[in-house]
Amino acid sequence: MLTVLVVGSGGREHAVARKLRLNPSVGMIYALPGNAGMALDPACAPVERVGIPATDLDSIVEFARTRLVDFAVVTPDDPLCLGLVDTLESAGVAAFGPTKAAARIEGSKSFAKELMRRAGIPTAGYRVFDEVEDALAFVRQSPMPVWIKADGLALGKGVVGARTVGEAEEAARAAMLDGKFGSAGLRVVIEEDLRGVEASLLLFTDGERYRIMPAAMDHKRAFDGDRGPNTGGMGAIAPHPLVTPDLLSRIEREIIIPTLAAMREEGCPFKGCLFIGLMLTGDGPKVIEYNCRFGDPEAQAALALLESDLLDIMLSVRNGTLDSADVRFSGGAACCVVAASGGYPGAYRKGLPIQPKDIFLLTTQRRDVTIDYAGVSRPADGSAGLVTSGGRVLGVTAAAPTLAEASRRAYGALGEISFEGMRFRADIGAKALQLAGEEVMDG
Ligand code: AMP
Ligand code: GLY
Repeated sequence: MLTVLVVGSGGREHAVARKLRLNPSVGMIYALPGNAGMALDPACAPVERVGIPATDLDSIVEFARTRLVDFAVVTPDDPLCLGLVDTLESAGVAAFGPTKAAARIEGSKSFAKELMRRAGIPTAGYRVFDEVEDALAFVRQSPMPVWIKADGLALGKGVVGARTVGEAEEAARAAMLDGKFGSAGLRVVIEEDLRGVEASLLLFTDGERYRIMPAAMDHKRAFDGDRGPNTGGMGAIAPHPLVTPDLLSRIEREIIIPTLAAMREEGCPFKGCLFIGLMLTGDGPKVIEYNCRFGDPEAQAALALLESDLLDIMLSVRNGTLDSADVRFSGGAACCVVAASGGYPGAYRKGLPIQPKDIFLLTTQRRDVTIDYAGVSRPADGSAGLVTSGGRVLGVTAAAPTLAEASRRAYGALGEISFEGMRFRADIGAKALQLAGEEVMDG
């Protein structure tokens, strides 16, 4: 039996753990720190939570060695960028995820942009600044809007779209002078605005070979119709209707193959799950950003369509044998709808009981959906059930032959769940269905 360590605590990690559990050779799953929902989910059991921060590399390695962990799956950006995979591997613990050097593709936007420039990969025009005066002078003579980005990791908040020169100046000053993003924002990347439809492309790669997952569409804005503030993601669908086989071949040729080659040339081949955030512009697909990990909630949608064994795929990524791995996805569609706390992404209340109390009965009875937990805890008084403890509380994912059916199932199951202030977007998948209709009309 294999003892597996899953690092992270969100819906993405819950979905990964559930898929790993399908392999009969997986024994104990340690979740570091995981969440209360994932730990109680019969579809993942046995799961034991580990109370070590995901950024405490030495303690994690110590834990992995003493508990004889056979395989560690690292999915959050912070530990990857700190080098958790390198640390585990040098201590003799096999790990899935990029090395610290390869994780720079997400951890440093200037690294990613220079890589794309050298390799001729289509992306937004940009400049990199270390001096605030230079950044201010540049935005004063740039056409608006522009995008001001902290170079390093900033909890997903380091990107500002500025519509006016005043907003751009303020964003540059906040990052470079006021230290709004700490050291992550002392250097900024300023980019031109790209117009089009966004797509999230996730792929497994062992550094040389790659296998693409069904392209996904995230829904980042808080409210229906893509309005309101940006969130971590209110839902996702896959496959993306605009990523047709022809477009995908172009993306492979112009983006995926040169990106993986450039990383090898850089001396840091990328092994793990590479996330390419694309803008599908009138001028072809362009890279908005790379992430060195699965997206959340894109992973929940893409993994719902995975028909082959996730553990085998991850081991072959780590071992450099992806060519012989079985990586198959169903031809259907998946829809993941996130239930968030009232007020999210601003302030929200915590500790609100989630109904029904025996929520796991819901997924045992309704085999057509899965529930991935994120911001949940056990009640403080020790009673049964779960209470809210985060902004994104849980996600309901359904896979079905069509997107319309997947969305109907996900919303059907979500209708049976409630907590005070629960909020979700009612239009996850609507834009994709509309775009799919337009594709049919064009074609
Ligand atoms: P990030 O925080 O890097 O995931 O970026 C957040 C979002 O900002 C992206 O998903 C895009 O919607 C938007 N964005 C970033 N850069 C650009 C750009 N150059 N043009 C248009 N939109 C952008
Ligand atoms: N859903 C976008 C991300 O995970 O970064």
